[in-house]
Amino acid sequence: MRKKIVAGNWKMNTDYAEGIALFSEIVNIVRDEKKGDQIAIICAPYIHLNSVAKLGGETVKIGAQNCHQNESGAYTGEISAKMIKSVGCEYVIIGHSERRQYFAENDALLAEKTKIALANQLTPIFCIGETLDERNNGNFFEILKNQLVNGLFVLSAEDFSKTVIAYEPVWAIGTGLTATAEQAQEVHAFIRAEVATQYNAAVAEETSILYGGSCNPKNAAELFAQKDIDGGLIGGASLKSRDFADIVKTFNA
Ligand code: PGA
Repeated sequence: MRKKIVAGNWKMNTDYAEGIALFSEIVNIVRDEKKGDQIAIICAPYIHLNSVAKLGGETVKIGAQNCHQNESGAYTGEISAKMIKSVGCEYVIIGHSERRQYFAENDALLAEKTKIALANQLTPIFCIGETLDERNNGNFFEILKNQLVNGLFVLSAEDFSKTVIAYEPVWAIGTGLTATAEQAQEVHAFIRAEVATQYNAAVAEETSILYGGSCNPKNAAELFAQKDIDGGLIGGASLKSRDFADIVKTFNA
C-alpha cells in the first residue's frame, strides 16, 4: 500500500512565535481528527524546525523546504541535510518551482540535493511541474519527463523507492487556479507509467505522488479520490490550521 500524505509547505511565512503557535494548533486539531494511517507533514522555515519537531511527535511529521547539496563546508548561509536530520526532521522538499525559478536550481543540482538528502536518511519530496506556457504549447509531458529523468531517475531503484514525488503545475501555485481532477490524474498516471518504465511496475505502484497547486478543503476530496493521486503538497491552506486539518481529514472519508 502506498502512503497517503498531506504535506504543508509554509514557505517564507510566520516568524518564530507565529510558527510555533500555528504548529501547536495544527497538532491539536490533527491529533483529534486524524483517523486513518495518512501521514501529515509540515515543512516549516529552518529556524522553526528544532522546536516543531519536538511538538509534532507521531501526529505531525516535520520537513524542511530545501537543503544544500554538499555534506558540509564553506557555504556561508546554507543548511545541510545532516543539520536538518539532526533536529528530528524526516522530510525535505527538493526542487520546488520557486527554487527552480528564483534560485536557478536545475535538474543536475536537484539530483545532487536528492542524493545528499537520502544519504542523511531524509525522505525527499521531489517537485516537478510545467509552466502555463509549457502547458499551452502542449509539450508539457516532455518537460515533466525531463525533470524526472534528470532529477530523480539517476537514483537506483532502492533509493528511488525512498522518495515521494509532488506534481505541482506552476500555473496553479498560489494562483487559485487548481488543475482539474482529470488534468491532475492524467499527469499522475503519466508519472507512474514513467516510473514503471524506468524501474518496474512494483516500484511504480508503491510510489506516492502528491498533487500541489491551490489545493484546499473544497477541492481536496475530488483530487485525492483519483486513482493515482496519493495526497497533496499544500501551500497557502497549510497556514490556516483548520484548513490544513480539514485537508488531512479528507483521507478519513
Ligand atoms: P499553494 O502552494 O497551495 O499555495 O498553491 C503549493 C506549493 O507551492 O507547494
